[in-house]
Amino acid sequence: MSTRRTVKAEILRGPFDPGGQPEAATGQPMELSFFAWNVSSGLSATKAVLSDPARYKDYWHWPTASRMLAHADRIGFDHQVQYGMWSGWGGATGWNSEGLDFATAGTASAMVTEHMNLFGTVHVGYRFHPMHIAKLGACADFVSNGRWGINVVAGMIHTDFAKFGFKERPPGSVRYDMADEFVTLMKYLWAYDDPVDFEGEYYQCYGGYVAPKPIRKPRPIIMNAGLSEEGFDFACRQADWVFAASPKGSLEDYRWAVEKAHSLAAKYGRRVRVGAMCYCVMEDSDEQAAETVAWLEEEADIEAIRFFMNQAVGTSSEMDVEGGQDRYLGLGREQFMKVALGMHGHQFFGGYETVAEKMRALHEVGVDNMVIGFFDPQRALVQMEEHVIPILRRMGLRH
Ligand SMILES: Cc1cc2nc3c(=O)[nH]c(=O)nc-3n(C[C@H](O)[C@H](O)[C@H](O)COP(=O)(O)O)c2cc1C
Repeated sequence: MSTRRTVKAEILRGPFDPGGQPEAATGQPMELSFFAWNVSSGLSATKAVLSDPARYKDYWHWPTASRMLAHADRIGFDHQVQYGMWSGWGGATGWNSEGLDFATAGTASAMVTEHMNLFGTVHVGYRFHPMHIAKLGACADFVSNGRWGINVVAGMIHTDFAKFGFKERPPGSVRYDMADEFVTLMKYLWAYDDPVDFEGEYYQCYGGYVAPKPIRKPRPIIMNAGLSEEGFDFACRQADWVFAASPKGSLEDYRWAVEKAHSLAAKYGRRVRVGAMCYCVMEDSDEQAAETVAWLEEEADIEAIRFFMNQAVGTSSEMDVEGGQDRYLGLGREQFMKVALGMHGHQFFGGYETVAEKMRALHEVGVDNMVIGFFDPQRALVQMEEHVIPILRRMGLRH
């Protein structure tokens, strides 16, 4: 520790991966992530969850969550991805209003799993210091034997920023500039043995050093789901996993986003893998699934969706959703239901063959990782084990 590394915060010109990029692929042709298991109701904004709260809403309670994680791990899910929440969306269901934080849940999940990667979601804009998260992350990676990863969120929710003392939400460009500095410093702290001096506009660090180092070399895997122009650029420049999305669920839009991700990353001398947020309602047959979907839609939690739309839309668009008497809040039925059932994620609705086919179609346009929130996650893991994963194996998508 005799030398001292001085990092100039010229982060927009790189190098973006001091020490190199870690291998992010698990070796499965199609990777599967168990998503949003740590917050109440996950991706389901529907009063249908109140019909059996233990099953549909409160599965994040540890006795259930720990069983689900162990099950997902046993049947080969590649990753668990937490949903990072500080404010919920309220409404009749208290959508996402309770849940386990990134540090507690990430570390606890290491204790009940053996193979899967464990992604904690950290809002880097909420006054954490990169030293804190580099230390927590290194230790979570250490105790999980190299399985911890971080989903970096720049932050977008007004009430969250207020909770952390901001009078107003900083604009998207500032949030992603902060994220750039944050992630750059964290990468240096993880990848190098010598102490780091860092002089950024938002973060400073003198003699920064963490020990133990992460087990995964050169550092834990970084995920980012920025979708605005600044966000997507940041993801391709700084993260190992990026996300494709399509407001209308069109496969061509996904293909376009996947290609854009790879070409942008290549421009920065990097490689990325691409995930998509997905929502799954699965039954024994397509007809039964359609009945369940109709029930979920009929019971959509309008107040929670209104709050979500007003608070959490991307940095690229600001909305003021009131909707008056319109039960679809002026969004139109299709977009409204995409929020209610899956928070805008890609929808896998149907019997087992149909769900597997839909996964295959999304994989064929270049999506490597299906990051799935399930309406009924305890049952869904059984259905995945007994029906869907065997079909995916037959299709050559899972070993
Ligand atoms: C798969 C996925 C997971 C996400 N997880 C979270 C999360 O846990 N917490 C959160 O506040 N935002 C989350 N987001 C929001 C994104 O980080 C991002 O802020 C959003 O897509 C808008 O993009 P923008 O920030 O570039 O405007 C997620 C988005 C996706 C697609």
